[in-house]
Amino acid sequence: MTVHDLRFRGAVPSTGLPGRRRQHPLAQLDLEHFGKRVVVFTPSGRTLSEIVTQARRDISTATSAEVVRRVASANPDSIWAIARKDRYDALDPHAEGFVAFLMLDEKGFGDLTRGTLDPTDPDLNAICTQNSKPAAIYVWALQARGSLAAGIALVFEKLGTPLYQDVDIYARPATEDGARFLETLGFSQLSSGNEDDAPNLHVFRRSNRWAEAPSYDTHGTVKAPDAVTVTVARGLDDLMKAISIRSAVFLAEQDCPYSEEFDGNDFSAVHLIGYVGDEPGGSLRIRYFADFAKIERLAVRHEFRNAQVAAYLVHAAIELCRAKGYGKIYGHAQKRLVPFWSRFGFSVFSGAREFVFSDFDYVEMMMDAEPKADAVAIGVDPYVIVRPEGRWHRPGVLEKSSARPVTRPTGRAR
Ligand SMILES: CC(C)(COP(=O)(O)OP(=O)(O)OC[C@H]1O[C@@H](n2cnc3c(N)ncnc32)[C@H](O)[C@@H]1OP(=O)(O)O)[C@@H](O)C(=O)NCCC(=O)NCCS
Repeated sequence: MTVHDLRFRGAVPSTGLPGRRRQHPLAQLDLEHFGKRVVVFTPSGRTLSEIVTQARRDISTATSAEVVRRVASANPDSIWAIARKDRYDALDPHAEGFVAFLMLDEKGFGDLTRGTLDPTDPDLNAICTQNSKPAAIYVWALQARGSLAAGIALVFEKLGTPLYQDVDIYARPATEDGARFLETLGFSQLSSGNEDDAPNLHVFRRSNRWAEAPSYDTHGTVKAPDAVTVTVARGLDDLMKAISIRSAVFLAEQDCPYSEEFDGNDFSAVHLIGYVGDEPGGSLRIRYFADFAKIERLAVRHEFRNAQVAAYLVHAAIELCRAKGYGKIYGHAQKRLVPFWSRFGFSVFSGAREFVFSDFDYVEMMMDAEPKADAVAIGVDPYVIVRPEGRWHRPGVLEKSSARPVTRPTGRAR
């Protein structure tokens, strides 16, 4: 991906501290200083072929002039040429270095994070047009030796315009050195904790795309031993955690008969697990109906009470329902716990009924919630709809499979 001269880092004084690399985030580079020696410009036809020829000298995987021409034609903001100021002639411009981007749309971004983007021949359907906001900017290739490296800062400055300023910049360093170079600029390795994500992808964050995980998918993002985190039960092992917690609380503490607790609804519901560190400390269940979602079976193991586990679980459940487009969240609260549920916005609505089961008196409660603007709904990217429950915010395994050609295996031939 990159050929830059180590001197770039050398161009900025080191901290002198061994191993402590001087960090020069892109946003804080002294452009005026760099602009004194180099210029950047969008290359025309001949300069474009010049760039490819030059790139090929250093980047063995560099793609063809034809592919570069197609990408630059699809979006002229893709390729920026760099030249020393004293050698630049606008009538006869020559590129001595360059920075090339792929302005990716959502499909392109998906391909990038799934590892299915072909940098040697990018799918033009994944490239957004010049005046539309990309979902991601990928540093396709970069070549800037010696003082030309200053041009990199000037090119990145072009990504500070309103159209681009809040779009994350991605890069995939080909070498350790490349990774250190990116780190110097403020990039960080993308670790969304999803093993399916494309390896070795670095991001310079400018959007809130990779902001912290939603409250219903925090487990695994915080490493502190007593951190309270939540996630959706995604497998039988997770379900066993929920059943163990409810057995410890409702069967053991509240003497609830087995068949009353395990009421046949556990396979037609979503279960949230609340962890304390890596220990499953609490759980709740959500069942979805046409126009309301029902939160139920909230239980926190006695040894983890009063540590906000229930609070994290209930907040996460409300957010999950909103992310699925629900505006009405309903529940049956033990009457002794009405004050507890009221803290989260639930109230005993007019006409709410009181009733009894499993030796406790209950009352109906409900809250109105604002469905999320980007709730999962028809019309959303189909790949988002097939992502795991509660993980709509990051690429899933099925998208990765789209890298395979369609073969319609039906097993008959074998
Ligand atoms: C009720 C229960 C879920 C609370 O769990 P918890 O993890 O201890 O609660 P949290 O620590 O998250 O408490 C959140 C807030 O609710 C308050 N709270 C906790 N239990 C409460 C109760 N019984 N009544 C009123 N408020 C309560 C806490 O003080 C805390 O307030 P704060 O945020 O101002 O500090 C837990 O005690 C439990 O599992 N009970 C047995 C099962 C049960 O009855 N489930 C509910 C069926 S409706």
